This record gives sequence, structure tokens and C-alpha cells, in this order.
Amino acid sequence: MNLRGGKAMLSNKHLDALNKQINDEYYSSYIYQSMVAYFEDKNLDGCAHWMKMQAEEEHLHALKIFNYVVERGGRVELFAVPKPPIEWDSPRAAFEAALDHEKLMTDKISKLADLAIEERDHATNNLMQWYVSEQVEEEANVDDILKKLDIMGDEGTGLFLMDRELKSRPAPSPNDVEG
Ligand code: FEO
Repeated sequence: MNLRGGKAMLSNKHLDALNKQINDEYYSSYIYQSMVAYFEDKNLDGCAHWMKMQAEEEHLHALKIFNYVVERGGRVELFAVPKPPIEWDSPRAAFEAALDHEKLMTDKISKLADLAIEERDHATNNLMQWYVSEQVEEEANVDDILKKLDIMGDEGTGLFLMDRELKSRPAPSPNDVEG
């Protein structure tokens, strides 16, 4: 671990990993924004709204790490955001892709937490524990939608009812990702 002005700095390895995670969170936002476009095209306004709120939340996830790196005296480096998929086989397939993506993010967060523990960086570990809990919620939210589609049916009336329900997702607040 480096020291500058008496303040414990992030190791270079850690800084690189956090900068990469900022990019992954922006990519998450981009995938969900692409799903907004997909659902808008299908006139599924509720699904589109839910994905829009999810895209905003991912943007806040990126900012939370961005702000943390700055606070730790690290240099944030932004990378190009890859092009996300634009098409899915069905509305259900889009939600399945969302769940798969969240599982991948959970794995990345776990690795970041492992690194923080390995480096005895308690502050970063603390931040990562916030993301660990957040990932449990993120996976559960999408899993819940998929289970309801199992019960109600993922086309016709079932999909119509689900679309109506998803309209009510509240906007994420920057306060939700603070602390
Ligand atoms: Fe920020 Fe859904 O991972």
C-alpha cells in the first residue's frame, strides 16, 4: 500500500480493479438502457419503465465507486463502454439476461471484496459489503419478476399484468447509494 501525505492510498492493483468496476457499472446501465429501447419498441411501457429505473440505479452504482476512488486520493480512469445487445428473443429472455448479468456482477463484486480482504483494506471492504448486499437485492428483484411470469404466463394476459405492475417502480434516489 502506498502512502501520500499520511493518507492511506489504494494500491495500484486495487485502483485498477475499482476503475474496471466503474466501467462494468456503466456497462450495466447501458445494457438496461438498451432493454428500455427493446421494451419501448414492443409497447411494454411498464417493463421499459422498470428497466429505465434499473439503468439509473446502475449509473448511481458507478458514481458511488467513482466518488470513493476520488475520496481515497485515487485517479479515476474511464474506459470505453462496450456496445450492449439490442435484441432478445422475448420479454422473458430479456429478464433472464438481466438475471444472468446480475450474477456476473455479483461475482465481480465478490472478487473485489476478496482483494480488499487480501490487502487488509478495510475501507474498500466496507464499500464492497454494501455492494454485496445490493447484489442480493438486485438478483432477488429480477428473480421475483421471472417467478411471477412463471405463474401468470409470459405472454398475453400474464405479460400485460406484469407490465402494469412494473410501472410502479420508484425512481432510485442518490441517497439510496450513499453511506
Ligand atoms: Fe450495479 Fe446491478 O449491478
